[in-house]
Amino acid sequence: MIQIAPSILSADFLNLEKDVDLVNKYADILHFDVMDGVFVPNISFGFPVIEAVARKAEKPMDVHLMIVNPEKYVDRFAQAGASMISFHLNASDDPGALLRHIRSLGVKAGLVINPDIPVEHLFPYLVDADYVLLMSVFAGFGGQKFIEATYDRIRTLKAEIERQGLVIPIEIDGGVSASNAAALADAGAEILVAGSAVFKAADPEAVIRAMRP
Ligand code: DX5
Ligand code: ZN
Repeated sequence: MIQIAPSILSADFLNLEKDVDLVNKYADILHFDVMDGVFVPNISFGFPVIEAVARKAEKPMDVHLMIVNPEKYVDRFAQAGASMISFHLNASDDPGALLRHIRSLGVKAGLVINPDIPVEHLFPYLVDADYVLLMSVFAGFGGQKFIEATYDRIRTLKAEIERQGLVIPIEIDGGVSASNAAALADAGAEILVAGSAVFKAADPEAVIRAMRP
């Protein structure tokens, strides 16, 4: 079953409650892009925004950490209201241990890679992950062009997840819209992040509806 996860990064920060209500009503997950200006050349937001949204969120809060030293902050993101926390494979010295630690907090643990990292690099860690996030753009900015090679990466990863006898949803993030949602679902993706396609649309509700199979 496809879940739609609008990314708050593209929301209207002057009227964030309106956009949170939209997700509460029509989507499945709230996606938060936390950027530190070091791991990625952009800075987004942190704990105050997540704590504020948590007061109104009625859907799971999916925190995507594009930061160095994620191990220093996962506990605070869990306390702030995250029910899913993902971090980049190459931001951690011990991804397996960090995945297990996130799980110990009662939070779903996710691993992320950029489009230039082979999906095979994820394979040793799948057993400790509750989901995997494949970037379909290079992390750091909303509104980028979808990278078409993502489809084959989803199929390769999905095959390995099944080979290992695991049940782990694949989340796709970056350049996702109503025009590629069906093909992504066909390739095996189960969670679709969409920022600009949803929040920059004249009718966000219609876009979310159009993204569903
Ligand atoms: C990029 C973020 C994505 C981005 C998606 O670093 O991880 O979640 O906000 O935005 P769109 O859907 O506009 O590509
Ligand atoms: Zn993201």
